[in-house]
Amino acid sequence: MDKIISLKDIKKLYHTDKEEIMALNNISFDVYNGEFISIVGPSGCGKSTILSILSNLIDKSDGTININENIKISYMLQKDSLFPWRTILDNCLLGIELNNNLNVENKQLVISLLKKYGLENFITSYPNSLSGGMRQRVALIRTLAVNPDILLLDEPLSALDYQTRLEIGNDIYEIIKNEKKTVIMVTHDIGEVIKFYV
Ligand SMILES: Nc1ncnc2c1ncn2[C@@H]1O[C@H](COP(=O)(O)OP(=O)(O)OP(=O)(O)O)[C@@H](O)[C@H]1O
Ligand SMILES: [Mg+2]
Repeated sequence: MDKIISLKDIKKLYHTDKEEIMALNNISFDVYNGEFISIVGPSGCGKSTILSILSNLIDKSDGTININENIKISYMLQKDSLFPWRTILDNCLLGIELNNNLNVENKQLVISLLKKYGLENFITSYPNSLSGGMRQRVALIRTLAVNPDILLLDEPLSALDYQTRLEIGNDIYEIIKNEKKTVIMVTHDIGEVIKFYV
């Protein structure tokens, strides 16, 4: 397997008016192509910080990161962050638009994902008419829409009730199986990820 990401001795300090917070202290790990990696830990331990550094949203304070230059990373944030003024389809096309890559083909890909994951009747709806589980699925589809090599998933199931969580969890599992993506998934609940390993 190819090593696609390598983190060594990553540190992150946040500075506020009052204090300095050590969010990460000497984090090191490697990611190989096709792996499913979960980062499990209690609230505030720095999980989202790792993903935000990997996706270049924030800077590390120290350490080294090597990411294979051919790798496309897509990040599903902890909050679903759908834009209320965009339709479901347009929300899912956002990443593609930002990459200046909108064409008939990838628009069709997104529509087919929406149909596959039970959102056929909501393509032209707005987020406020969707349930929490549906919104989560839309956020996942938006993450997949840019055809990434690596998915960074931050608590993708946390907003959901138990029943929906099982269903969406299966969707994610199926997607990973089908599409052979490398995944780094963050959760505070080890029960959410254990089934990915059995
Ligand atoms: N922008 C910020 N400014 C200051 N401190 C921050 C900032 N973001 C995070 N922190 C602090 O850094 C630490 C790690 O935060 P982070 O969001 O990475 O935790 P987490 O493991 O994702 O938590 P949760 O499970 O609640 O999402 C926490 O102590 C948090 O208060
Ligand atoms: Mg978090």
